[in-house]
Amino acid sequence: MKHFFGCFKPKKKSSKHDQVSKQHSPKRVSLSDLSGQGSPISFNDLSNSLVGSSLHVFTLTELKKITNKFSLSNYLGEGGFGTVYKGFIDDKLRPGLEAQAVAVKNLDLAGPQGHKEWLAEIIFLGQLKHPHLVKLIGYCCEDEHRLLVYEYMDRGNLDKLLFKNCGATLPWSTRLKIAIGAAKGLAFLHEEEKPVIYRDVKASNILLDADYTVKLSDFGLAKDGPEGDETHITTRVMGTQGYAAPEYIMTGHLTTMSDVYSFGVVLLELLAGRRSVDKSRQHREQDLVKWARPQLKDPHKLDRIMDQSLEGQYSAEGAKKAALVAYQCLSHHSKCRPTMRTVVKTLEPLQYLNDIPIVPFVYVVPSEVGKEDKKEVQKKGCDQNQNGHTKNGLKHRRKLMAERS
Ligand SMILES: Nc1ncnc2c1ncn2[C@@H]1O[C@H](COP(=O)(O)OP(=O)(O)OP(=O)(O)O)[C@@H](O)[C@H]1O
Ligand SMILES: [Mg+2]
Repeated sequence: MKHFFGCFKPKKKSSKHDQVSKQHSPKRVSLSDLSGQGSPISFNDLSNSLVGSSLHVFTLTELKKITNKFSLSNYLGEGGFGTVYKGFIDDKLRPGLEAQAVAVKNLDLAGPQGHKEWLAEIIFLGQLKHPHLVKLIGYCCEDEHRLLVYEYMDRGNLDKLLFKNCGATLPWSTRLKIAIGAAKGLAFLHEEEKPVIYRDVKASNILLDADYTVKLSDFGLAKDGPEGDETHITTRVMGTQGYAAPEYIMTGHLTTMSDVYSFGVVLLELLAGRRSVDKSRQHREQDLVKWARPQLKDPHKLDRIMDQSLEGQYSAEGAKKAALVAYQCLSHHSKCRPTMRTVVKTLEPLQYLNDIPIVPFVYVVPSEVGKEDKKEVQKKGCDQNQNGHTKNGLKHRRKLMAERS
């Protein structure tokens, strides 16, 4: 008799069998291999399929312990799947599991996602390993509880960094690094023997570690792509407004090129520092792609698109080429879009362009005595975006941007 997920209860708190491991790794198992047999997937099916993945099966008690009983102070945020908490695994929790910070996602049973998305996450991330995919450490399935345990990413997600970061703006070089990292992660998925369509490319699913290395997260909507002679798969339209490819929205036809379109939206967000949909803007600028795409091909108009908070501190050549990549990715005709590998190859060399303007940074020494005592100290060679510019510095940069356009 099969043990189904809803009935599964771990027997012991922690045993050798909790960590699934195997010497040889067979062909990647897909969700349809497991759920296409007419009956729900059993716990045994899952653990047998993921042998070799090194995923840990945690108990709910363990996860409560490492998240301080899912306390508010450990709360990281909430998405469609449920709430996410920071946790700390110490070296005593499990033999073979090193001490580390983790993020624990707890499925909200009343939310829009469910058991299927939880399972998809385990099936895909249990088998796909890449420096630009978030590492799934393990999962928990007890009674109705469904949880996922990931490596903890210090800087959270790109949406927060790009749009809610009240302090410093993300410098040009970091934006490029993020775009390249995300592109590499997607190229890896698309080039799998059985290609994977990620289906949920958006700023909030791009996680960043301490040095801004990208890790794609959230594989709940991921799908195995078309194989053999098939040109596409047909599926229910899911995803996020402002990121989904037009042909997918219209027909439900999904290909790896749908991801390329969504990547184009993220690249445009990185260039413009604007959200793909922003209802607070004037009507014609609310839909970023509609407003910006026609201007991406024209270097003279690019200055209107580029994030003003960069204050001109970017490579004009690099921005021009990156804008062209975004333009191509956002093509209405999916066949005209580049592959993610081509995107990586085009973006990578842009990191080494050194035409970032070097402008004098003017610092006005504050004086307690009076205006006449103010001294201006000029420092040349400041090529990074700075916060707290003086008015002179800002004026100079704006003039420079006007001259370049
Ligand atoms: N591995 C992780 N490390 C650090 N923070 C994380 C990790 N995974 C998720 N988070 C944070 O938890 C919060 C919720 O993430 P989640 O992916 O559930 O929702 P979302 O991406 O905001 O929305 P959506 O449901 O549309 O994907 C976000 O702030 C995210 O940055
Ligand atoms: Mg997410």
